[in-house]
Amino acid sequence: MDSAPRDSGDQLDRVLKSLQVTRKYRFVCPGLVKAIASAELANGRSLKETIKETKSKLHQSAAVYIRRNLDFEDALLQLREAARTNQNKDDAFSLGSRDFARPILRQFMAAHTSTFERLPLLKTFYQQIFDRLPPVNSVIDIACGLHPLARPWMPLAPERPYFALDIFSDQIDFLNRYFCLMGYEGEAVQCNVLEELQAPPADLAFLLKTLPCLEQIEAGAGRRLLYAIDAPVVVVSFPSHSLAGRKKGMTQHYAAYFDGIIAGSGWQVESLSYPSEDVYIVRK
Ligand SMILES: C[S@@+](CC[C@H](N)C(=O)[O-])C[C@H]1O[C@@H](n2cnc3c(N)ncnc32)[C@H](O)[C@@H]1O
Repeated sequence: MDSAPRDSGDQLDRVLKSLQVTRKYRFVCPGLVKAIASAELANGRSLKETIKETKSKLHQSAAVYIRRNLDFEDALLQLREAARTNQNKDDAFSLGSRDFARPILRQFMAAHTSTFERLPLLKTFYQQIFDRLPPVNSVIDIACGLHPLARPWMPLAPERPYFALDIFSDQIDFLNRYFCLMGYEGEAVQCNVLEELQAPPADLAFLLKTLPCLEQIEAGAGRRLLYAIDAPVVVVSFPSHSLAGRKKGMTQHYAAYFDGIIAGSGWQVESLSYPSEDVYIVRK
């Protein structure tokens, strides 16, 4: 038996403390840790079980996608060095494409499964999406992972604001320094999007490969979030195979799920299919 205090506030603090001493979970948004733990305690779990279940949920919905831990300080050094070398040749930053950074950013994106799987698509993915849209002057990227690193491949001018949200504070800090280093208008914020969507309105919202993760924490979260997003266009995607690479009818499964959550919305939807993900362009 756990010698847990009866007061649930104390219990939540104990769960949080026990995760904050782990390498894997210490940077996770405290609000999300507490929300998961609170639901587990309310279901009658002991403190020990709650800690185990909270870790398991955070693993399944976020940590499992991290293929290797990126050394953020080293990554920024590499980027800075590449920019410095290039500035000697010509003005690297006057080229909207930031070509000098692309090979390094590809390496960084390989650290996270979602961006790793998108590497072969970079040249076409954004072009095909943006070609279908009116001019995009601002973007929000919900549960972004390392996806903002793909910005040099997006037909989006550097001065256009890009607002990114995710739960890992170290990754968020890295993304803010990346935006700054690259001369991009952008901001990343640590946020549990299940609690409150702290995002400004934008022309386009990315919600890539994320709804299945959120549904694991809270059934019905996908529909609620989709309606809460303040953007006329939302690009939603789903993985077309499991992390182990098996297809298992995932395209059909998520197509049915997606049809269910937008039923009755009156929104227009266009779909695009790629080897690793199925994309829906939602016009609200
Ligand atoms: C499958 S990854 C997708 C990453 C990115 N959207 C992409 O496609 O490249 C899911 C992301 O959701 C984030 N995430 C999970 N739960 C979240 C929550 N409650 N609030 C915000 N982000 C969350 C994870 O940290 C992870 O980066």
